[in-house]
Amino acid sequence: MKNRFLLMMLFTGIILLSSCYYDKEELLYPTGALTNCDTVGTVSYSAKVVPILQQKCYSCHSISFPSGNVAMSTYATDKATAVNGSLYGSINHANGYSPMPKGAAKMTTCEIATIKKWIDAGSPNN
Ligand code: HEC
Repeated sequence: MKNRFLLMMLFTGIILLSSCYYDKEELLYPTGALTNCDTVGTVSYSAKVVPILQQKCYSCHSISFPSGNVAMSTYATDKATAVNGSLYGSINHANGYSPMPKGAAKMTTCEIATIKKWIDAGSPNN
């Protein structure tokens, strides 16, 4: 009788433990920096690109404070950096460009992919 009780406890324990197990996608697919990256469909300048640039770039690149003579933070200026290749070159740390954001970690794969998709779409004001 006592053995049966222990067996039941063990069984219940295993069931409880296994129900707590779950697959973490990022751990299963380590390439998946893009796993939670929402670049499906059109990338909106105002909803997606601006928040990233605001967080990582505008503090040093605004109209009134254009570090390295690179002004950003309006659609026209942001588009200009997109069109001349320096936006993607700098955030992707490409040869020939100053790596940006200056003095900080490279942007995430998702952030770079988001901005690239916007650039590739012709950097629309959407
Ligand atoms: C801490 C300040 C700072 C931050 C943050 C920063 N920049 Fe810069 N950026 C500079 C300075 C200073 C230069 C002038 C070149 C140099 O010193 O490397 C520059 C140069 C540039 C250039 C010209 C690079 C070239 O080689 O032609 C671009 C484009 C640029 N930044 C884009 C960005 C973008 C996009 C971000 C956000 C991801 C960003 N910067 C974040 C300070 C900053």
